[in-house]
Amino acid sequence: MTHAEAASRAAFLSSELHRHNRLYYVEARPEISDQQFDLLLKELQEIEAKFPDLQTPDSPTLRVGGAPLEGFTQITHTVRMMSLDNTYSEEELSAFFARVQKGLGREKVECVIEPKVDGVAITVRYENGVLKYGATRGDGQTGDDVTNNLKTIKRLPLRLPKDGPQTFEVRGEVFMSKAGFAKLNQEREEAGEATFANPRNSTAGTLKLLDPKIVAKRPLDIVFYGLAEASDVESQNEVYALLDAAGLRKADLIWQADSAEGLLQAIRELDEKRKSLPYETDGAVIKVNSFVDQRELGVTSKAPRWAIAYKYQPEQAETKLLAIDIQVGRTGALTPVARLVPVLVSGSTVSNATLHNYEEIERKDIRVGDTVIIEKAGEIIPAVVSVKKELRSGDESTVAAPTHCPVCGTAVHKDEEQVVIRCPNPHCPEVVKRRIEHFVSRGAMDISGLGEAVIAQLVDFKKADGSRLVADVADIYDMDELSLARLDRVGTKSIDNYLKAISSSKQQDPWRLVFGLGILHVGAGGARKLIEHFGGIDAIAKASVEELMQCPDIGEIVAVSIHAWFREANNITLLDRLRAGGLNFTQKAVEAASDKLNGTTWVITGTLSQDRETIADTIRANGGKVSGSVSGKTTYLLAGEDAGSKLDKATKLGVKIVNEAEFRAML
Ligand code: IVH
Repeated sequence: MTHAEAASRAAFLSSELHRHNRLYYVEARPEISDQQFDLLLKELQEIEAKFPDLQTPDSPTLRVGGAPLEGFTQITHTVRMMSLDNTYSEEELSAFFARVQKGLGREKVECVIEPKVDGVAITVRYENGVLKYGATRGDGQTGDDVTNNLKTIKRLPLRLPKDGPQTFEVRGEVFMSKAGFAKLNQEREEAGEATFANPRNSTAGTLKLLDPKIVAKRPLDIVFYGLAEASDVESQNEVYALLDAAGLRKADLIWQADSAEGLLQAIRELDEKRKSLPYETDGAVIKVNSFVDQRELGVTSKAPRWAIAYKYQPEQAETKLLAIDIQVGRTGALTPVARLVPVLVSGSTVSNATLHNYEEIERKDIRVGDTVIIEKAGEIIPAVVSVKKELRSGDESTVAAPTHCPVCGTAVHKDEEQVVIRCPNPHCPEVVKRRIEHFVSRGAMDISGLGEAVIAQLVDFKKADGSRLVADVADIYDMDELSLARLDRVGTKSIDNYLKAISSSKQQDPWRLVFGLGILHVGAGGARKLIEHFGGIDAIAKASVEELMQCPDIGEIVAVSIHAWFREANNITLLDRLRAGGLNFTQKAVEAASDKLNGTTWVITGTLSQDRETIADTIRANGGKVSGSVSGKTTYLLAGEDAGSKLDKATKLGVKIVNEAEFRAML
């Protein structure tokens, strides 16, 4: 490919990718599948890799993250980014409207009401149809240039449609949806990483990252509500029209009102509806619609007189703090947890709340015996927000950060930022329990039946020589009937089931084993990518940091963590024992593709030699379809050992049933 050919192909791909992005995010009528989109993107990436000068500032490849920065440069805002005055009461809102009426000297004043999105304020500038820069509010005069991070937000156009406005600066809010935040936190927990307290913190933390490749993996989104400077636009309603014409997302709900009563009705309706919005909202923003009116009303030193934020009371409750317990995590993190007198908040009974860390306890001066205010915002775990110090009797007691692990007594270790306190003892029984719970969990090795109570017994049971029955995950595979018979309240039937589940877990896909090992920063997704890239655990173990970083989705921090894990003596022994125990260390090649199963639909049930996903991949690779439930459309039921209700249903419906040997023969 010559440079000229590459340039013309890159321009074509780029314009197609912008068009498909718009069809998906703005017009909600995609023409191609995600895979087809990814193929176009990949082709453009390959061209840009060969001819780096062809990467334009609006290239769709920047969505996956450009080069990391050393630090953010500052941008001086063209127009100051102000904040809003807040109110928490309907009376104050009516008083605001009365001031507006008085200021304008008339009764009727058109206003708009929008949700107040709980995210991070942002300004975005477009010039000649191309995204020029984006910046945070900072001190209102200058903010951080976070352009590269913003470019990863798929909903944010990098290039504008030709038939709309081309040069302007818009103001909005970057946020994480409730669902995106929940998923991110779950993944972080699985990877042994600290979780975020709420979507806003998580958004702010993400925008501050210097590596856009990491930002690209976080579920950031954006919504706009205003213009930095009004040129030919004369009202807030015209701003909405401009946003629509540019393909920029505006608020999902907007009310119009011209009286105090109308405003109150709108904020009450919004309070009803905001629970079903995809993002967190902490209030309503009320703005005078006409820009002529806005200019007439003017601004104070920090906020406009033509707008106000009406904040909803977060759902709070008052209760007594009974104790502060220490929770020991899989990575040894010691997290303080508040035990509370049970209380009803947002429809559910709360008896525990997170205290995040000991610094927070000190900062808020939280003591055992205190009357505390707890809050449950959105889907998020309840937190202690404040203490009613005036209700103290003097019997309350302070709780100091532990200097030693409460379980094994080892001196604690503080992380670099001095926030997380950890028990550094890899043999701490509590840490061992958490590690085993993770190893056997559904998302990892999926050894059903081995619940918390059984695991606790297995770890706590000391043999005659003083060693534990189970001290690491490899010990699980050394267990037999005799060792399990020592547990309390475990009958022979359960023992049999445990042993079966343990034995069949040996066949699990190797990515499940990699995930189950609990390597810091390696979640289920990362483990899959590692196995896909390296083919097996031994190749991962041998890889250098550089080689690990060749694997998609594995950045330097993760690579360093994996590299270190496989070089620790304890872990090397552990792996040797797991290998000797017969666990599956290499990805079995999927049967060569064919069209032998074209036109057939399969349901898989029972215990088979490979896990269901692997078999499903084989079926799909050979042209078949896989479904989760038996119906009239099912062609074959592939039934392994212990098949249950699906087998019954298939028999009833007359679906053809095949065993694994017959299935393999068909290929
Ligand atoms: S209008 C002069 N509208 O709330 C500032 N702000 O407390 C005009 N916010 O800095 C802001 N949703 O970050 C406006 N629909 C909305 C908003 C909104 C969230 C944020 C914004 C602003 C802060 C003010």
